[in-house]
Amino acid sequence: MSSTTATLRMNAKQGLNRADHAPQGLIGAPLDRKEGPLKVSGRAPYAYEHHPANVAFGYLVTATIARGKVNGYDFDAALAVPGVVAVIDAGKRTTTQAANTSSNPEQGNDHVTHYGQPLLMVVADTFEAAREAAAKVRVDYAPEEGGRFVLAEEAPKAKTPGYPFFNKANMNTGDFDGAFATAPVQVDATYTTPSQIHAAMEPHAATASWDEAEGKLTIHASYQMIGNVAAQLAKVLGIKADKIHLMSPYVGGGFGSKLGLNPESVMAAVAARALKRPVKIAITRQQLFGISGRRSDSIQRIRLGAEADGRILAIAHESLVSNRDGETFYEPAGISTPTLYAGENRLVSHRQAAMDLMISVSMRAPGEAIGMLALESAMDELAHTLGLDPVELRLRNEPDTDPQAGTPFSTRKLAKCLTQGAEAFGWAERKPQPGARREGDWLVGLGVAALSRNNYLSTSSARVRLTPAGTAEIETDHTDIGTGTYTILAQVAGDVLGLPMDAIEVRLGDSTLPKSSGSGGSWGAASGASSVLVAAEALIEQIAKRLGVEADQLTFKDGQVITGNRTMPLADAVGPEPLEAEGTIQSGAVQLTHTQVAYGAVFAEVAVNAVTGEIRVRRLDATLAAGRILNPKTARSQVLGGLIWGMSGALMEEAALDERRGVFVNHDLAEYHVPVNADAPAIDVTFLEEDDRYANPLGVKGIGELGICGSGAAIANAVFNATGVRVRDFPITLDKLL
Ligand code: MOS
Repeated sequence: MSSTTATLRMNAKQGLNRADHAPQGLIGAPLDRKEGPLKVSGRAPYAYEHHPANVAFGYLVTATIARGKVNGYDFDAALAVPGVVAVIDAGKRTTTQAANTSSNPEQGNDHVTHYGQPLLMVVADTFEAAREAAAKVRVDYAPEEGGRFVLAEEAPKAKTPGYPFFNKANMNTGDFDGAFATAPVQVDATYTTPSQIHAAMEPHAATASWDEAEGKLTIHASYQMIGNVAAQLAKVLGIKADKIHLMSPYVGGGFGSKLGLNPESVMAAVAARALKRPVKIAITRQQLFGISGRRSDSIQRIRLGAEADGRILAIAHESLVSNRDGETFYEPAGISTPTLYAGENRLVSHRQAAMDLMISVSMRAPGEAIGMLALESAMDELAHTLGLDPVELRLRNEPDTDPQAGTPFSTRKLAKCLTQGAEAFGWAERKPQPGARREGDWLVGLGVAALSRNNYLSTSSARVRLTPAGTAEIETDHTDIGTGTYTILAQVAGDVLGLPMDAIEVRLGDSTLPKSSGSGGSWGAASGASSVLVAAEALIEQIAKRLGVEADQLTFKDGQVITGNRTMPLADAVGPEPLEAEGTIQSGAVQLTHTQVAYGAVFAEVAVNAVTGEIRVRRLDATLAAGRILNPKTARSQVLGGLIWGMSGALMEEAALDERRGVFVNHDLAEYHVPVNADAPAIDVTFLEEDDRYANPLGVKGIGELGICGSGAAIANAVFNATGVRVRDFPITLDKLL
């Protein structure tokens, strides 16, 4: 079998390639998800749905204090429950949630750092026995006083602030204080957001089997990034990475909670090895609220100083966020502020407070999701103070180049998103005076906000194989977390190799396959699809060599290879043995020479009941410019999710903290409110034509998190327009309007 490798490092703008000719018409087509029928018919097994012979069931025992030590355990009653096999103390080798960070510290379970921390796993022949026994484990705690739970300006500073990935989130240029003090118009507003907690539809789950003869672990678990997690798990278990076979082909949502190794996988693996018996565990929804990670709470002070005509002279965004001591990750709430609007004098900073709460981690658009909520509310306050239309205010502050780095934007169509979006929405009907539009008991308001999300590319590899039958197989450890990865990878391969969708098989989420970017940071589509492009082009070189022609003399279409006046089936061109190529995309210098951001504008219409304060979102219109759209159907779905999550942050979502005990009390989806279908408004999503060849060879930008990066502010601004009440303490619940 012929096998080659090819790598493209993004050091310069890319020209056209075979994916531009798109002979099959796949790229840009709104195709259904390739794995959709498997999922809706229950034939796509998730991590907990594997049933190895003689499998045992795990159930966690979690901490019921927020801070202190475990003196010891009493297992007698637990072990007396019929069917109980063992109590597993993963001990010093359990990473708990800390695996979900860059620092990845290991810690023992005799030290309790937050309420709900996993301590032990009970293993039994049935789930019910494991759960019953777990409730009978007695824990002797030595609680410590002085738990730090509440975010406030005087909160103790964390010991290790700083996370290199976000270093562009901080800046101090010009003379902010001086320019703000003398600015003719000033806004100085502080916004607060509460902790939010990860609750993906599929809970954290793992099914682990240990092969004693081979010294090898097979584990089905739910993750966004396979290669990194397999390596972390190998380290925890003290075995080589190639002794771990991690599979995660179907993932019921991740949103950042499944980026790194999670405790259930460690527990299941340790138990399977110790008991010489397969073990599975799914964390319960209630337990997840102490395990899955939270988005940090925040206190964000924003100051805008402007000329009377709206031009911004000074802009400051100072954020206080929180995490546990020793964690380097912080919520970069101000990460869009350095690049979004013009202004000579700028200050963006982050401080981290130390808390004895569940770890803060990445949650869908870490930074922008709550940062744009605050910044775009402040822009609305400035527009109101100036008596200027909020769309016009933003247009007057469009920067020519990145105000932080001075580099050109790769592409930037924010102004077009705002103007075209305003037109489509009917923005001209908005009454600038709050409370001016009333329909019976309902006050109606319109609001706008920009969407902004930094664009990334992450190293990613994929193998593409052409079979003697003339079909293609794509293999990579990339994941499909419900986003459409299976589909878009096949679309790119199909257009490059001239094959219809059903001639392309895609295998994902397996640690034995080439290492990918994984799904995170909204880079999954661009990185994964680019690696498939690179591999497919390398395959075409192989075919050209076989046929003794130059690659550019070959056309691939409908399973045929055409050169000059000769046409042959692809199967014949491949020959009797498969052809294989591994393609890799790497980020490079162009990332530094051109600022890459995806943009959009959101318009919202809300109705607020003048008697009860009930808020109904009636309409959300989003116009986005995010490079080429590989599949408008899957892209739109992601934008819908983002827009609704933004609505959730504006109006509903809040982890309610018991400030005495450090417990999040609303730890299920009955009490932790998110929008349901009955809350969701009519939504319209429009993608503008854009093609960003500084970003990657396909011209694609990340779309996954863009919708959440401002949609909440559009709703908050509409609530102000409806009522004249400006709520700066999110979520805006009805009691705050009355
Ligand atoms: Mo996303 S928060 O990078 O999974």
